Amino acid sequence: MLSVVVLISGSGSNLLALLEAAENPLYPVRVLAVGSDNPALGLEHAEKYGVPTFVVEADRFETREEFANVLMANIHFFDPDLVVLAGFMKMLPPSFVEAFRSKLINLHPSLLPLFPGAHAVRDALAAGANHTGSTIHLVDAGMDSGPIISQRELQIPEAVLEVELTEMIKVLERRHLVDVIREISEGTINMEGLI
Ligand code: GRF
Repeated sequence: MLSVVVLISGSGSNLLALLEAAENPLYPVRVLAVGSDNPALGLEHAEKYGVPTFVVEADRFETREEFANVLMANIHFFDPDLVVLAGFMKMLPPSFVEAFRSKLINLHPSLLPLFPGAHAVRDALAAGANHTGSTIHLVDAGMDSGPIISQRELQIPEAVLEVELTEMIKVLERRHLVDVIREISEGTINMEGLI
């Protein structure tokens, strides 16, 4: 059984997919806690499933390091096997990344290394890309730059709106995240080997 802490910043639909999957006793993953950098809507999903939550607001700290240290302390309290960034929108300093080396993954709505950053769907459309997708990668100190664990592709329909493509990618991501975390739990994906 793989134990997981999930960090979010927004609606938490990927978190919800994971919580739903973990309801099945055959799914070898347990969500220990959910953290956020703001009172995010998605925390309600955790509360509905009886999963503890914590909020560490970045603007209460003078530096990114102090913010990250408190976030880290909260995660260490639960001592998870894996930390999942599922829509967590704050950059984390090297000290945080190093503390969770080979145990920290991020979900990103493009086929990295294409379109890193906070506007991946918009950027893919602006570039006239005809396909995009979902990437799950190990986190390093850069922006969406760590070793890629897994990717899934989708075709971009003609004249699709950004809001529509965002939702199409999220549907893909939810299944992707649930599958990849199961594979990590079962040892099919070896994270140490990726570093
Ligand atoms: C996802 O598209 C994820 O790839 C990106 O932020 C979004 C989070 O969506 N980093 P949600 O909060 O899980 O609905």
